[in-house]
Amino acid sequence: MKFLLLAAGFLSTGLILAAPAGAQEVRETGVQQPGRVIVLSKCFQCHTDAMFRDQRQDRRAWEATIYRMIGRGALWTPEEIKLMADYLGAEYGAAAKPAAAPR
Ligand code: HEC
Repeated sequence: MKFLLLAAGFLSTGLILAAPAGAQEVRETGVQQPGRVIVLSKCFQCHTDAMFRDQRQDRRAWEATIYRMIGRGALWTPEEIKLMADYLGAEYGAAAKPAAAPR
């Protein structure tokens, strides 16, 4: 029992320490692109953007990619899927600049 309490204490300390970093990310990325914040927090649960940042495809294809990730275990709401597809289709669309190009 004592161990459990100790473990819970460490866990909540970790959560408190992690909070400011998350808040800062939201401030930097801004509220005008909610999809970006969701992509950063959701896609990075399994891999970095190295997995998809070089890809250029339209919104429909990005939506298909998102559903492929659900097939691999991701759990997202329809609203999160819509926002992420909107963001990826706009920022990583067929006409978007190559990832290596300066922005
Ligand atoms: C539940 C874990 C998980 C999450 C969350 C996840 N992915 Fe993936 N993703 C994978 C796995 C597993 C692979 C296959 C890795 C490999 O082939 O080495 C993959 C591969 C990919 C690929 C290349 C292969 C393909 O099927 O196209 C792309 C593109 C991709 N992910 C995009 C995304 C995007 C965009 C998001 C956020 C919307 C995301 N992933 C979130 C697990 C995940």
